[in-house]
Amino acid sequence: MLRTVSAGISAAFLALALSAPAVAAGDPANGQKLFKKCAACHSLDGGKKKVGPSLYKIFGATPGQVAKFRYSKGMVAYGATGVVWNEETLDAWLKKPKDLVKKTKMAFPGFKKEQDRADVIAYLKNLSE
Ligand code: HEC
Repeated sequence: MLRTVSAGISAAFLALALSAPAVAAGDPANGQKLFKKCAACHSLDGGKKKVGPSLYKIFGATPGQVAKFRYSKGMVAYGATGVVWNEETLDAWLKKPKDLVKKTKMAFPGFKKEQDRADVIAYLKNLSE
């Protein structure tokens, strides 16, 4: 009796796993691990700057707006176009920062894997809510 029940449960699990899309929604727990690559330059506490600005509540924010941080001209100009940091803009940014903002000060080559970008973005989004 017990056996049949657990077999049923694992079959349901398998069906769920197989129906997941190729690039699943971002996984914030993995994003937190990947953020170690950002943490050398970015704090998540408000007002605490390192080489880069604090990323406190960055999701939904206008680029280049953290007080007392000296951004590149390119980043300030990007913010002036009326965009905000959301899934699309952060994905473009983390793919290859220099492609989005020419002459940016952010010396990070980017995440090649779409899933890595989605995970970090999900992590930052959760923290901003
Ligand atoms: C080597 C240091 C460094 C690393 C590593 C780094 N950044 Fe940055 N980041 C910067 C700097 C410097 C800026 C400011 C860029 C400018 O003014 O052009 C910045 C800007 C940003 C911004 C825009 C902030 C704002 O206020 O608009 C975001 C978002 C961001 N980084 C996310 C990340 C994420 C996520 C990672 C990890 C995947 C990362 N960065 C890795 C240095 C870094």
